[in-house]
Amino acid sequence: MNISIIGAGYVGLVTGACFSEFGLHVICADADEERIHLLQKAQVPFYEPGLQSLVESNLRQGRLEFTCEIERAVRSSLVIFLAVGTPPNGDGSANLSQIFDATSRVTKFITDYKVVVTKSTVPVGTTRKLKALISDNLPPHLSIDLVANPEFLREGSAIEDFTRPNRVIIGVETPQAKAIMKDLYSPLHLIETPIVFTNLETAEMIKYATNAFLATKITFINEIANLCEAVGADVHLVVKGLGLDQRIGPKFLHPGPGFGGSCLPKDVAALLSTARDHECYLRIVSAVLEANEYQKVRMVEKIRKTLGDLNGKTIGILGLSFKPNTDDMREAQSVTIIRSLQAEGAKIKAYDPAAMDNARKILTDVQFCAGPCEVAEGSDALVFLTEWNQFRKLDMGKIRAALKSPIILDLRNIYEPDVMEDLGFTYVAVGRRRLNFV
Ligand code: UDX
Repeated sequence: MNISIIGAGYVGLVTGACFSEFGLHVICADADEERIHLLQKAQVPFYEPGLQSLVESNLRQGRLEFTCEIERAVRSSLVIFLAVGTPPNGDGSANLSQIFDATSRVTKFITDYKVVVTKSTVPVGTTRKLKALISDNLPPHLSIDLVANPEFLREGSAIEDFTRPNRVIIGVETPQAKAIMKDLYSPLHLIETPIVFTNLETAEMIKYATNAFLATKITFINEIANLCEAVGADVHLVVKGLGLDQRIGPKFLHPGPGFGGSCLPKDVAALLSTARDHECYLRIVSAVLEANEYQKVRMVEKIRKTLGDLNGKTIGILGLSFKPNTDDMREAQSVTIIRSLQAEGAKIKAYDPAAMDNARKILTDVQFCAGPCEVAEGSDALVFLTEWNQFRKLDMGKIRAALKSPIILDLRNIYEPDVMEDLGFTYVAVGRRRLNFV
């Protein structure tokens, strides 16, 4: 089966590369000529573990193609995935201009039956609107089906999340579209991946409900961590006790500086916008966004409380990306926190294993360093903002010698309080302190 992917970004490229790995012939189309030119040379324009080799091998075997010509992609494919960006508007609602534009361009070249799939995250009801847009611009004898097939790809583990998903969600309206989508995902039958068929709106809602719940879970444990600091409890042990309840589970209960990235903040805001449009007030989801913004403010307060007046202080930051194993700086917690510290007169030194090129485009007056020791050199404190594996076993003797004062703020709880205090550090974490218990 031939398929095409419109949009070769984080979602479209992973989707296309993985479907070609399944043995399908995939044409990835994108309007960005430079991006397509790079991809035709098997150069992936962003960091995603394993994607470079997946693209290289499938390009070489002729199962994966890249083009700017949307016409060839549409005419030669039975299934057309829409995977273009749906970034937030200023009011938090999803900007759908790209997906409506892509749909209009696809429609021009539809001359026989097609299945058009929304893979991008779109507000509930959008897939049906796209169906109307296409149908209104096709001759009556031509039939198409629209499908909603949201992705659940985490940056840094996107290939694993695509090839071994917990489930596949498919919103369909006809037996024919259902059969085609079932065939498309048949390689996952081998690992017995549950495929849940729904109507269009339900599939779209499952995506938003998933991300809003994940954001809620993260924000919940951040608030519990904040209270742990006040009452002398240890949030890691709280998470252990909480996570052993099979109704709750241990995942997405790691406290830190709040959630960032190109999805959770955007999707939670878009869900609230959809709710407002339908005069349905989501009190919990509203509180999650508010609490998440406060968590970043609280991190700055924590640094100020530890260091005193920040004016003239040098603060070393380890980790700039919104999470490990990505170079993505979209809605990264580091941007808000660093700008707040700079506003109080702090000088910033920083290192990140993958995101510094992107960070340079966003942050100003930051001294970007070659590694953790250079960041620590002469700094009044070292702050961990992203839990990269490279930061998990640093030579703390060297770090302590390099720091002007042995102060560490570990905002991702990478290290253990008692170990760090025994090494002579003033060690501040999130919801944790040295525990003296039997
Ligand atoms: C998310 C969803 O997980 C994924 O299903 C969806 O398709 C896209 O959005 P992603 O944004 O790549 O994926 O990252 P994720 O791993 O969900 O982390 C999001 C943010 O939450 C990061 O800033 C991360 O540091 C933070 N986080 C995550 C926590 O602070 N604690 C946790 O326990 C988990």
